[in-house]
Amino acid sequence: MKALVLSGGAGTRLRPITHTSAKQLVPVANKPVLFYGLEAIAEAGITDVGIIVGDTAPEIREAVGDGSALGIDVTYIPQDEPRGLAHAVLIARDFLGDDDFVMYLGDNFIVGGISGLVEEFRSERPEAQILLTKVPNPTAFGVAELDDEGRVASLEEKPKEPKSDLALVGVYLFTPAVHEAVRAIEPSWRGELEITHAIQWLIDKQHDVRSTTISGYWKDTGNVTDMLEVNRSVLETLKPSTEGTVDESSEIIGRVRIEPGARVTSSRIVGPVIIGADSVISDSYVGPFTSVSEGCRIEDSEIEYSIVLRGASISGVRRVEASLIGRDVEVTPAPRNPSAHRLVLGDHSKVQISS
Ligand code: TTP
Repeated sequence: MKALVLSGGAGTRLRPITHTSAKQLVPVANKPVLFYGLEAIAEAGITDVGIIVGDTAPEIREAVGDGSALGIDVTYIPQDEPRGLAHAVLIARDFLGDDDFVMYLGDNFIVGGISGLVEEFRSERPEAQILLTKVPNPTAFGVAELDDEGRVASLEEKPKEPKSDLALVGVYLFTPAVHEAVRAIEPSWRGELEITHAIQWLIDKQHDVRSTTISGYWKDTGNVTDMLEVNRSVLETLKPSTEGTVDESSEIIGRVRIEPGARVTSSRIVGPVIIGADSVISDSYVGPFTSVSEGCRIEDSEIEYSIVLRGASISGVRRVEASLIGRDVEVTPAPRNPSAHRLVLGDHSKVQISS
């Protein structure tokens, strides 16, 4: 069995972060979200992994390499444009050969891994198996309708009037039967080859398409709100440790990990919090569910429930909350006179100012 991991795409919902980097590499508790998926695949005993890459290919290659550090063997499959999830299957034909495979969306996060699911698929071997979860807002997802025996009767992409509250989670299992399906379908109104259409094609041809409904935690980290929420849930399980230095006038409360080379002075850190290698926190408050990547500076500031990427600095600002701060970003107070906000913002940035 192989794995096909989708790590291309446009990432419009995570702009401006995705103008300069891959959304699959945004860190959750200081580890790229993509790595959680690759680890789950390795844990399920799958080592042959194809990764679909787009414009951000160099960055993904640099982060994942040949996969050996994660116990997998990676083949990169370039996609010229994000032409849809079924298009990814289409262009991976040579890599996939006639093997069964799990398709995993590189920005999805599933607690509890996929080992049980892969095991179930291996023993039952329907033509396809999808993963579903109950959601409060099905109109925003691909939605499945099940028949009386729990088989998948139909699938609809972002339906106006959903037939159920069961949304597709970003993990799919396929036998080679899917190859005929992805060749048979036409692009949708948005110009993409939709995997939901390919699966519907299998259903229409009387193939056995089953589903498993998961009750565990699942998030598509495509937007900032979900990203922060996933970060929160991973930090809840953080193993506390102090490999950096903390001075005597600082206070560390709860689950806090301070990575090597990080320095905390005259500050209060209330976990769960991770402070990345070589970051400096001084005269500041860092509150629960915050991940600070490596090489950051937080001085005379307050921050909570946020993700701060590599090399960013925040100084003299209170208080930052529910924020995703990009690489090498500087956040500082404006001069007192005139009292005005001074902003240098990239395209598609979002700023909420409280004053
Ligand atoms: P999406 O989040 O559905 O699409 P996107 O990355 O274009 O993001 P946005 O909606 O914010 O513009 O994609 C799910 C995953 O699949 C994500 O990791 C990107 C990847 N993907 C590909 O690799 N190729 C594709 O053609 C598409 C559509 C997505």
